[in-house]
Amino acid sequence: MQLAKRIKNLPPYLFVDINRRIAEKRAMGEDIISFAIGDPDIPTPTHIIEYMCQAAHDPVNHRYPETNGLPELRQTIAEWYERRFGVILDPDKEVLPLIGSKEGIGHIALCFIEPGDLALIPDPGYPVYSMSTIIAGGEPYYMPLKEENNFLPDFNTIPDEIASKAKLMWLNYPNNPTGATADVDFFKKAVQFTHKHELAICHDAPYTEVSFEGYKPPSFMQTPGAKEVGVEFHSFSKTYHMTGWRIGMAVGNANMINALFRIKSNLDSGIPQAIQQAAIEAMRGSQDHIIEHNAILQRRRDKLVAVLGKIGIEARTPKATFYIWARVPKGYSSIDFTKKLIDEIGIAVTPGIGYGKEGEGYIRFSLTLTDARLQEGIKRLSGWQI
Ligand SMILES: Cc1ncc(COP(=O)(O)O)c(C=O)c1O
Repeated sequence: MQLAKRIKNLPPYLFVDINRRIAEKRAMGEDIISFAIGDPDIPTPTHIIEYMCQAAHDPVNHRYPETNGLPELRQTIAEWYERRFGVILDPDKEVLPLIGSKEGIGHIALCFIEPGDLALIPDPGYPVYSMSTIIAGGEPYYMPLKEENNFLPDFNTIPDEIASKAKLMWLNYPNNPTGATADVDFFKKAVQFTHKHELAICHDAPYTEVSFEGYKPPSFMQTPGAKEVGVEFHSFSKTYHMTGWRIGMAVGNANMINALFRIKSNLDSGIPQAIQQAAIEAMRGSQDHIIEHNAILQRRRDKLVAVLGKIGIEARTPKATFYIWARVPKGYSSIDFTKKLIDEIGIAVTPGIGYGKEGEGYIRFSLTLTDARLQEGIKRLSGWQI
């Protein structure tokens, strides 16, 4: 048996490694508090689950779904984009439901990247942008996200010969892992840049609804000209705490949406329809829980940032996302410091290097653990001598 080179060349997925380390420690009887994974601890709101249960009893939903989802789901997504962002979408041509946004992020590389092509990818960044590029036979060109630029890429530093070999540019705001946000002016610059170099933009936006103090992150699709050059990936995962149900969407440029549909229709058979029904209920039903969840996350954010400051770990207070991007103290690499945290006080975080070279010097804390576990984590941190 001989595995393909693309498998041999693929580094292990960051979270697989982290989960394994946590599981090993727990198997040895250690009480590990995990700030490592961005998976909401608060369950999916009850009205969404109840709607899904009802839909599960309907035999119509026992059969193969269509790859492009229920027309009512596409319509609901279009209505939500109009209500939330003032963006008008054609539900049949500009909306495509996905089996979680990760699935679409992975597959869209196959629509654009030929062997040897480049994709412009933020560093640090969600690992799937570069992995999908590599799987498609292309090469990532990393755009550094520097703290002094508020973790926004500087398009002026991308050489022309690189931009002309690139087919896709990935952006992600509110950003994982840095918690940074972008405004419409930044998105305008991105549209100008991609027009000039004739490349497509994929904006990954699963965190637009996880925000604090009244801040409402914009959608890339609000930018004039965005629909000519790009699509936006969004998700029910973080907004409605539906990570386990696997449902998301891509919206925007009709050609890009159609290309992604063509790839998907040859590979998957859509999202289970009871889950699509749940997603319709999520978007059409009460949105109050979003405010409640954000209030809980904001409290957690403030407690964690305060204790980190107290023990000498510099951390930014994000306006959006449930991530705290913190600097590791001088003298440690992000891996060394992650090991020290887990070995000395049983706290698991993700090392910045896992998100790319520019992530070195940082660690990421996720706020998606229960208040009781957070409290215990804070107790351990506050009594810790680094
Ligand atoms: C930036 C970013 N994009 C996409 C995803 C994937 O989300 P989904 O559950 O919709 O696949 C995540 C999940 O953590 C993420 O952080």
